Amino acid sequence: MGVINFGSLNIDYTYRVDGFVQPGETKAVQAMSVNCGGKGLNQSVALARAGVNVYHAGFVGTQGIFLVEKLGTCGVDTRWVRTVEESSGHAVIQVTDEGQNCILVYTGTNGIFTEDYVDQVLDAFGPEDLVLVQNETNLVGSIIRKAKSRGMRVAFNAAPVDGQVTQYPLDLVDWLFVNETEGAAISGEQEYSAITQALRRRLPHTAVVLTVGADGSIYAGPEGTFAVPARQVSAVDTTAAGDTFTGFFLRGILAGEGPEAALELATAASAITVTRPGAADSIPELAEVL
Ligand code: RIB
Repeated sequence: MGVINFGSLNIDYTYRVDGFVQPGETKAVQAMSVNCGGKGLNQSVALARAGVNVYHAGFVGTQGIFLVEKLGTCGVDTRWVRTVEESSGHAVIQVTDEGQNCILVYTGTNGIFTEDYVDQVLDAFGPEDLVLVQNETNLVGSIIRKAKSRGMRVAFNAAPVDGQVTQYPLDLVDWLFVNETEGAAISGEQEYSAITQALRRRLPHTAVVLTVGADGSIYAGPEGTFAVPARQVSAVDTTAAGDTFTGFFLRGILAGEGPEAALELATAASAITVTRPGAADSIPELAEVL
């Protein structure tokens, strides 16, 4: 059994700033680094570091080959990753002294999935496998439909949220991962409990996993509703915290733990991630989390 992650791979250009740049402002940065990122790559790394058998499917340009090498050194199976002539996806990330971030994403090669490629990858897997996808690639709705029609379980992280998300067949998704902004945009509600209740009413077969930053996380699914508070840590960089959460939560579920224990594991893992700079590099190993 494994996870096949149809995921983005981004070159992250990270700039440390004393506050986010404002409209019309030009600002010098305190430091700059180039990191391995992309919600897809980060989630594959989180799954692998959590001990899950994970296959990444996606595309990079030649300048993004180091992203594929990073996946490989982290234990992710990269046989389905393709290198092409187009420009790799990248992100421009501002990180403040408080560890908060804001991110611009250029889709690049994350937007060149074809139906044939998706079919080819899925043909190599079976109903015992789980498909994971985020909203940083094209063909998201198609990937969800195709995986479900093969009897596979589907996890979808609706990040970054956009106008297309509600057009996807979310009723086919087994686990929907959203933060408070994404949950509010999809449900039309603002309060945490109103968000989960509205999503559960609309998607009765979908378990909702809502992460709410310093307020912790909430699971609402067939087993009931569980909330776990966040750990108190000093955040250096919150980039990839949500991705770590998704990977370790799925690890808990695949290991046969209940949703509350999976939330606990994911909470502990993402608490470590935010204490370190960068994206994929900040994600801990399972042993450290335990
Ligand atoms: O979730 C964090 C990620 O979002 C970054 O690594 C960046 O690439 C963007 O995709």
